Amino acid sequence: MTSKPSVLITGASAGIGAAYAERFARRGHDLVLVARNTARMEALKARLHQEHGVAIDIIQADLTQPADLAAVETRLRDDARIGILVNNAGTAIGRSFIEQSTDDVARLVALNTTAPLRLASAIAPRLAAAGEGAIVNIGSVVGLAPEFGMTAYGATKAFVLFLSQGLSLELAPKGVYVQAVLPATTRTEIWGHTGADVNTLSGVMEVGDLVDAALVGFDRREPVTIPPLPDAGQWDALEAARQAMLPNYGNGHPAQRYRTAA
Ligand SMILES: NC(=O)c1ccc[n+]([C@@H]2O[C@H](COP(=O)([O-])OP(=O)(O)OC[C@H]3O[C@@H](n4cnc5c(N)ncnc54)[C@H](OP(=O)(O)O)[C@@H]3O)[C@@H](O)[C@H]2O)c1
Repeated sequence: MTSKPSVLITGASAGIGAAYAERFARRGHDLVLVARNTARMEALKARLHQEHGVAIDIIQADLTQPADLAAVETRLRDDARIGILVNNAGTAIGRSFIEQSTDDVARLVALNTTAPLRLASAIAPRLAAAGEGAIVNIGSVVGLAPEFGMTAYGATKAFVLFLSQGLSLELAPKGVYVQAVLPATTRTEIWGHTGADVNTLSGVMEVGDLVDAALVGFDRREPVTIPPLPDAGQWDALEAARQAMLPNYGNGHPAQRYRTAA
């Protein structure tokens, strides 16, 4: 790619995705905005085009709908100008697991896991062949914390982290950067969807601060960026503990502690 790559951002009509759109436009990247609310994306497009002079396309898509998702996949496969994918669209649902409907949980999984997986799958071979490009996946610290009481949502975000780490190992040697961004509580509309009032929560990060920090991680080519975490050594220690267990998974026999009853 000679000029700056275009950036396709899902969930670009609001919140973190809209902030990414603004920041990448400011950096001079053309954009492809994806979400359901066209009016909001048209307003964002008009403003960002006027302020930054970049070209902006809009794809209206409900990423839980296979036909809509397929259209975005096709764009990612075919449009060689797109060099950066920001898998940001996502939602959360409130209440406890036993109070959530099975259909709502399935829709959550479709949007938070199937969509980013399929979109990454659509673009990754082309980026790997080109030997450049980036995939940014928006996870959540909830994916590290079953204690936070958002079981289904956290499970989707654990998936996003694993997907990102696995893709990073596969694609980094081919020149493709993969970043997982793990926000904590950020002031966006997502909280309204869970029935919570974000103004009653403490430790809320402003969305611009979150995206600016995520982009510092992006520029450093960090595989995992956790904007609110002060001590990167804590993440490194968690990773080291996880990796220390890996050699044991090759044991062909049950560990001694499982060889005695009770
Ligand atoms: N805010 C937080 O505290 C927080 C913390 C950790 C992680 N995150 C993650 O950050 C990402 C962005 O969330 P946000 O806080 O910015 O939420 P948000 O303000 O509610 O924005 C969500 C975006 O996703 C889009 N979207 C929702 N459902 C969609 C669908 N079915 N198809 C296509 N697009 C859809 C929405 O657009 P339309 O309604 O126009 O479709 C909107 O642009 C999510 O993955 C979320 O899990 C957020």
